[in-house]
Amino acid sequence: MKEKAKILTDKISKAQLGGGTKRIEAQHAKGKLTARERIHFLLDEGSFEELGALVTHRTKDFGMEKQLVYGDGVVTGYGTVNGRQVCVYAQDFTVFGGSLSETHAEKICKVMDMAMKIGVPIIGLNDSGGARIQEGVRSLGGYADIFHRNVKASGVIPQISAIMGPCAGGAVYSPAMTDFTLMVENSSYMFVTGPNVVKTVTNEEVSSEELGGAMTHATKSGVTHFTAVNDLDCIAQIKELLSFLPQNCEDLPKPLPYTLDTEIRENLETIIPENASQPYDMRHIINEVIDNSKFFEVHKHYAENIVVGFARLAGRSVGIVANQPMNLAGVLDVNSSKKAARFTRCCDCFNIPLLVLVDVPGFLPGTDQEWNGIITNGAKLLYALSEATVPKVTLITRKAYGGAYDVMNSKHIGADLNYAWPGAEIAVMGAKGASEIIFRKEIAAADDPEAKLAEKEKEYANMFANPYSAAERGFIDEVILPKNTRRKLIKAFSLLEKKVVELPKKKHGNIPL
Ligand code: COA
Repeated sequence: MKEKAKILTDKISKAQLGGGTKRIEAQHAKGKLTARERIHFLLDEGSFEELGALVTHRTKDFGMEKQLVYGDGVVTGYGTVNGRQVCVYAQDFTVFGGSLSETHAEKICKVMDMAMKIGVPIIGLNDSGGARIQEGVRSLGGYADIFHRNVKASGVIPQISAIMGPCAGGAVYSPAMTDFTLMVENSSYMFVTGPNVVKTVTNEEVSSEELGGAMTHATKSGVTHFTAVNDLDCIAQIKELLSFLPQNCEDLPKPLPYTLDTEIRENLETIIPENASQPYDMRHIINEVIDNSKFFEVHKHYAENIVVGFARLAGRSVGIVANQPMNLAGVLDVNSSKKAARFTRCCDCFNIPLLVLVDVPGFLPGTDQEWNGIITNGAKLLYALSEATVPKVTLITRKAYGGAYDVMNSKHIGADLNYAWPGAEIAVMGAKGASEIIFRKEIAAADDPEAKLAEKEKEYANMFANPYSAAERGFIDEVILPKNTRRKLIKAFSLLEKKVVELPKKKHGNIPL
């Protein structure tokens, strides 16, 4: 028996070493942790149970039958993060560059299936040279098996992808279909075709970092939701992200204990500038309203004219969607609509209530926007907020103009409770623009057109640049003092906790993609 036990321990020790000490050193020299180290830091101490540690590939071509490494380039299993069960896989770059073989894919599929069966998040730590070149189409089939599972799991269990090394070609599509992607700065990149192919096809010269590095995808494409300065930072962010999410779509995010005080926040009285065209940082309002000013921002560097992220209100997880007057005056455009729509849907499928903070002068005009489909893309946000059945609360802090008023979680599209501050302006457009149109003839005929315009502007502003016209019709449930906002919101979400919505039977909606 001792001998048999030794055979096992020898095999496990071999598996632990992956591609060997030299390659582990090379991985460290690049500032990266190994797959096993990453899992070690992600999961609670001693909680990891590995599955398939002794799997090897089945390829006999190109002399591969002589190169068998236990685990075949991916470490898979389950464990806990802050006491919560998760399934995990981490690609091991020290084994064939973490490349994906048929068996490597089978291992990933096995933990994905497990995560689905038991209803727990799946976390993928990606670090791979792509399809195992020696395996051809078998490897491509393996990718597709993963993609298919990503789609089946979408909206059922949270799926998180960390990119901690190369992720190129077909490999990019699994992270793209998961709920959240994180990328490590300077050591990860994602692209469908690399710099060499780009040069051949388009004659563009571009580095890997510029083409598909973390900051490129955080700012230009929006492919990544988060960037991390190193592997440990990335892992810490995954843990924080998980804390806001439930285990699956039938579960609720776990609230943190919280003791209520008066919840009056005087600072909120002075954030909005006197001059309505002056910007302010919506994050200041968010930080005053939420618990401990702890805002976990998603897509921080992308489409900065809208702010989205997670926070807690009296311990409960909420998703926040907020116009950002500091950037492009907080207008809705193609990218901000896409960003907010995606986040809204994510909150909705995982039972996270939505708080929408509104200060929006309208949609961004211009050929660029129209030709890039602001109509279809703006419709995404309208659709997502209308479709969401989680508790939905809106606060208009300042402007809510035109169609953007409707889109930003208005009462009409199903918001449960709508609040406005006394300085809110809810109208078709700003007073000046409106007066120039509807009083055009009167202004032109006046002895002093400028004075007439000013008079008419005042008249229009008195009538509409306030929240009362909307409140009189019940479109706003309550006009509240800024300092009372946090208290009102806590009560509102507490009231809505048991909200139930019955939907008509359908296969799925047809969101304008
Ligand atoms: N299939 C099989 N083996 C692969 C591989 C792949 N797709 N990608 C990398 N490897 C192997 C390398 O042969 C090397 O093996 P070795 O240590 O025995 O020499 C090992 O993984 C490490 O790769 P290396 O090229 O030395 O690492 P690097 O950090 O310098 O470069 C990449 C990383 C990903 C840029 C580079 O390996 C690469 O271009 N790989 C191919 C990418 C690709 O075209 N994939 C297929 C299409 S999706």
